[in-house]
Amino acid sequence: MRKPVMAGNWKLYKTAAETSAFFEKFMPAIADRKRAEIVICPPFVNIPAAVAASSASSVEVGGQDLFWLQEGAYTGEVSGNMLAAIGARWVIIGHSERRQYFHETDETVLKKTQAALASGLNPIVCVGERLEEREAGATESVLRTQFTGGIGALTPEQFAKIVIAYEPVWAIGTGKTATPEMAADAHRVLRAEVAQRYGQAAADACRILYGGSVKPDNVKGLMAQEEIDGALVGGASLDPASFAAIVNF
Ligand code: PGA
Repeated sequence: MRKPVMAGNWKLYKTAAETSAFFEKFMPAIADRKRAEIVICPPFVNIPAAVAASSASSVEVGGQDLFWLQEGAYTGEVSGNMLAAIGARWVIIGHSERRQYFHETDETVLKKTQAALASGLNPIVCVGERLEEREAGATESVLRTQFTGGIGALTPEQFAKIVIAYEPVWAIGTGKTATPEMAADAHRVLRAEVAQRYGQAAADACRILYGGSVKPDNVKGLMAQEEIDGALVGGASLDPASFAAIVNF
């Protein structure tokens, strides 16, 4: 049985004060904490505020990115060890916005995943096709390429520690969710890749989250799919009531 992960990706939103205000409302609203692992990923500078506000609970905090080296002359970057040192337990890697606006590739995604694991962080590694790729019937091949060119190069021990997020780019921030069946189909493609590379037991254990316009009113249908092991939530994770409704699906 795979335990669901419900992760909030706050992107470039909220100050430290707004982070604390979120948790004040969010913590009392999450009734059933055992059902899913709950992760919130604020901007780097607000991780300490999020860690402080959630320390007495099972809610965990993550970064939205990291650099693949632990230190050096790399202006503006943040390392896995730095994230771990301030209490982050998770990190999102290879989000489509990082790929699109900051030129991340499957190769950098792999390096960042290895660095995160070396720092003891739980990576949530994102994959997903763009609209034109889906329309061209290339969804499966895009997912396979992202898998083999990136996380498919991890060792079995490393792979066992990651969570995959399937995020069709056309569904992110657009209000267009993939139907539960479309998401499950993509998850099956990814799980088959895992089985082929790491074996059936690894595929059965691997948690694959869906991301892209997950909202309180569509989370139930998505989570009803056997293939979907949780959600990576952007916009709807910014509001404590709406993220609590998603967590308590
Ligand atoms: P969204 O973002 O829920 O706002 O579509 C999801 C994501 O980018 O992780």
